[in-house]
Amino acid sequence: MKILPVRLIVLFIFFSFCCFNSFCLAANVTYDHRSLIIDGRRKLFLSASIHYPRSVPAMWPELIQAAKEGGLNTIESYVFWSGHELSPGKYSFEGRYDLVKFVKTVQQAGMYMLLRIGPFVAAEYNYGGVPVWLHYIPGSVFRSYSKPFMVENEYQWYEQFYKGGKEYAMWAASMAVSQNTGVPWIMCQQYDAPDPVIDTCNSFYCDQFTPHSSKMPKIWTENWPGWFKKFGAPDPHRPHQDVAFSVARFIQKGGSVHNYYMYHGGTNFGRTSGDFVTTSYDYDAPIDEYGLPRNPKWGHLKELHEAIMLCEGVLLNSDPINLSLGPSQEADVYADSSGACAAFLSNTDNATDTTVVFRNVSYFLPAWSVSILSDCKNVVFNTAKSDSSADEGSKALQWDVFKEMTGIWGEANFVKSGLVDHLNTTKDTTDYLWYTTSIIFSEDEEFLRTGSQPVLLIESKGHTLHAFINQELVQGNSTYSTGTLVFSFTALIPLKAGKNKIDLLSMTVGLPSAGPFYEWTGTGLTSVKIKGFNNRTLDFSSYNWTYKIGVQGEDLRIYNPDNLTNVNWTPTSEPPKNQPLTWYKAVVNEPVGDEPIGLDMLHMGKGQAWLNGEPIGRYWDKRSSIDDHCVQECDYRGTFNQQKCLTGSGEPTQRWYHVPRSWFKPSGNILVIFEEKGGDPTRIRFSRRNISSICGLVAADEDGNESSNSNATIHLQCPKNRSISTVKFASFGTPTGKCGSFRMGDCHDPNSTSFVEKVCLNKNKCAIELTETNFNKGLCPDATKTLAVEVTCS
Ligand SMILES: *[C@@H]1O[C@H](CO)[C@@H](O)[C@H](O)[C@H]1NC(C)=O
Ligand SMILES: *[C@@H]1O[C@H](CO)[C@@H](O)[C@H](O)[C@H]1NC(C)=O
Ligand SMILES: *[C@@H]1O[C@H](CO)[C@@H](O)[C@H](O)[C@H]1NC(C)=O
Ligand SMILES: *[C@@H]1O[C@H](CO)[C@@H](O)[C@H](O)[C@H]1NC(C)=O
Ligand SMILES: *[C@@H]1O[C@H](CO)[C@@H](O)[C@H](O)[C@H]1NC(C)=O
Ligand SMILES: *[C@@H]1O[C@H](CO)[C@@H](O)[C@H](O)[C@H]1NC(C)=O
Ligand SMILES: *[C@@H]1O[C@H](CO)[C@@H](O)[C@H](O)[C@H]1NC(C)=O
Ligand SMILES: *[C@@H]1O[C@H](CO)[C@@H](O)[C@H](O)[C@H]1NC(C)=O
Ligand SMILES: *[C@@H]1O[C@H](CO)[C@@H](O)[C@H](O)[C@H]1NC(C)=O
Ligand SMILES: *[C@@H]1O[C@H](CO)[C@@H](O)[C@H](O)[C@H]1NC(C)=O
Ligand SMILES: *[C@@H]1O[C@H](CO)[C@@H](O)[C@H](O)[C@H]1NC(C)=O
Ligand SMILES: *[C@@H]1O[C@H](CO)[C@@H](O)[C@H](O)[C@H]1NC(C)=O
Repeated sequence: MKILPVRLIVLFIFFSFCCFNSFCLAANVTYDHRSLIIDGRRKLFLSASIHYPRSVPAMWPELIQAAKEGGLNTIESYVFWSGHELSPGKYSFEGRYDLVKFVKTVQQAGMYMLLRIGPFVAAEYNYGGVPVWLHYIPGSVFRSYSKPFMVENEYQWYEQFYKGGKEYAMWAASMAVSQNTGVPWIMCQQYDAPDPVIDTCNSFYCDQFTPHSSKMPKIWTENWPGWFKKFGAPDPHRPHQDVAFSVARFIQKGGSVHNYYMYHGGTNFGRTSGDFVTTSYDYDAPIDEYGLPRNPKWGHLKELHEAIMLCEGVLLNSDPINLSLGPSQEADVYADSSGACAAFLSNTDNATDTTVVFRNVSYFLPAWSVSILSDCKNVVFNTAKSDSSADEGSKALQWDVFKEMTGIWGEANFVKSGLVDHLNTTKDTTDYLWYTTSIIFSEDEEFLRTGSQPVLLIESKGHTLHAFINQELVQGNSTYSTGTLVFSFTALIPLKAGKNKIDLLSMTVGLPSAGPFYEWTGTGLTSVKIKGFNNRTLDFSSYNWTYKIGVQGEDLRIYNPDNLTNVNWTPTSEPPKNQPLTWYKAVVNEPVGDEPIGLDMLHMGKGQAWLNGEPIGRYWDKRSSIDDHCVQECDYRGTFNQQKCLTGSGEPTQRWYHVPRSWFKPSGNILVIFEEKGGDPTRIRFSRRNISSICGLVAADEDGNESSNSNATIHLQCPKNRSISTVKFASFGTPTGKCGSFRMGDCHDPNSTSFVEKVCLNKNKCAIELTETNFNKGLCPDATKTLAVEVTCS
């Protein structure tokens, strides 16, 4: 974990577009204490972070549409400098980095855009999104008053570490304002941002946040609806009821700009992830890595957004009046001169459900929840209401093989006495650096006579290591660290009389993306010793070492279809298993259908993968520890933190790797894998992200008070071009079990199935409203009733 529970940002501009037919007008954007103001009108902004390089252009229109359908009106993204300036002065705005196209796509959807320009972004991105070459420009100190590096993000906490830190932050603010962009600037987590720059909140909860000036609106730039994953760690999840609770509390307490970081997390394609961050950047976000709505989260938040938007006018034209309704219960009431009224009733008790009385009417408030009353009478939404629409959950490929050299291939880069810093040497042009040497033993060594095995001892600054003795991979006790990047490796090694070759492959797994002076964090080996020569320990750290940057196949770009013939591939019927340093390639067909596609790498070790030269990313079988504090069920109630709802103990952190459909051609697709330590390629499979079955579960109104509550609703939606073909299960009453294994309870309305069939069959999507006319609500009056539904799409 990071030093700070916070991440990311900072300077950001607010862009807006007003599009009428084919011409666009820039709007006048200002603010007051209540909200941002566009062309003289206050406006609520509900925003979604979608990072353009973490998906592909072919996905952008659908992702943005899914955010719009999810009830949002704004898209937010960082700008990723390292992807735009590959070497000094050499700019790129193509493919996944086509920022202009991304922004235009947002505009075409009729949405607003929040642009966080960085240049430092953190974002769990390689090197914090700053180009690595910048570090090598003389005089450059990142995030400081240093000429080659002057603009900032989420800075205040870091001021203490840098000489002139405060002056630097103030310089950044006035530099930004002087650009006269015509839109307001904000600084995230900069609580003394100078006027007119607005300071904003990043956290799991921001209801208690107030900007430093009473003239500024209350803005939440990062609400984390989940968390990112690191190789070797379990899976974080944030319950949808808690996400909704945090948003409703923020609006209740006067917030008017809210952004989900992330709404679609996406994929860290290629070598773009930060240190140890998985290739998947799913984030447990409302839209999953593959671009599909993650339910119940997406649907639940959609209903919340619609409820908030119903109140937009009165919310923005008044200031709240708060009333206590109990020790942990309160109401905030917004009323304007036109007679409009909206109220938020909250119960922040984390265990006890209660009934409160507000304006002479009783309202049932589940623990840790907020009810929204759009007219101060009727509940249009409660954040804990359970509406879930959970979704459930080829033939073997023909592989050609190319064996990578162990150790130096081609000409060595250099020979040097002592161990060099890895990053200083590779400059991050590759993950790989070979450290090689050899050592000669005479036959009178004790261990050769007794047959005892010497021990290799290596110290490394990180990130990982594969050690080869006489071309054989040796099993170390640890090849990466579990905490800081530094680790110690020990292994019994088979040495022989005469010359022994020692080839050590040091690897980075994404560079640190934040932390004081993070760009100075070294990597690579610091000490290499062998214990056991006539009972002595031999330290050969300062020996002459021969170095080679990268591996051959990568250098020849044999993953590019045009460069495949740069090496001789051997066709196989049974590809070799558990072979380190092996390239595999196969011709693959695009899986049928139009669902998103994942590559199952469960049985592979560690390496990288490409399709048609497009970088799928790093894969790794690194598992989380079995004593990670994982949970079977997660209680949404109570203060959330990223350690609360973990799953996947003892399992590989990432099994499925997203391969965008737009990367496939009609035929002749080439999949290339570079396996570093050994795996079983016969078990690599493409799999369609399956949504054959969809479910929904919703509780009937707990207090039975028809006038004060809305009717609960289940929303079901099949993938594009598919429709609901059967209703596998439908029961209003007391059903039990989970999606895929629902069972009828003692109480069951026999008309449930026919009703759901009537509303849903042969439709792409349907909404099942739990009303008196649709279901027999009077059935078994003492039971707490729910409606459970499972349908299949085809
Ligand atoms: C923008 O709006 C503000 C107030 O809403 C107003 O004072 C200002 O004159 C407007 N600017 C332009 C250029 O229209
Ligand atoms: C309630 O309102 C009063 C006056 O407007 C304010 O001082 C107080 O901070 C509010 N309390 C809460 C919990 O928001
Ligand atoms: C609540 O009820 C009392 C007594 O019946 C009545 O005097 C009062 O006006 C009512 N308040 C509201 C807001 O309806
Ligand atoms: C797809 O669904 C089928 C049948 O429900 C299941 O056997 C298969 O494992 C699913 N595949 C994935 C990738 O979830
Ligand atoms: C591996 O061995 C070294 C040296 O004995 C030790 O310092 C390190 O903690 C060990 N690592 C693990 C994961 O056991
Ligand atoms: C990288 O090289 C620079 C300049 O040669 C040196 O100052 C710095 O200490 C090196 N970094 C590490 C981690 O060795
Ligand atoms: C090396 O150590 C072993 C056991 O500790 C001992 O039996 C052996 O005599 C020692 N050999 C030498 C050459 O000191
Ligand atoms: C290391 O290399 C240098 C120059 O190549 C050579 O002069 C020196 O003898 C070597 N040292 C060892 C210990 O091999
Ligand atoms: C690999 O292919 C690219 C074009 O895709 C070409 O520019 C490059 O020269 C090739 N490299 C080698 C080593 O053949
Ligand atoms: C609930 O609140 C109590 C009292 O504030 C606290 O001690 C407890 O840890 C909380 N429980 C959860 C699950 O957050
Ligand atoms: C709930 O449904 C009934 C029809 O069964 C309708 O009369 C009522 O207005 C609905 N309530 C809300 C809050 O939508
Ligand atoms: C089921 O529907 C039929 C016809 O609409 C109706 O007569 C019957 O009362 C319903 N049963 C229940 C349990 O609601």
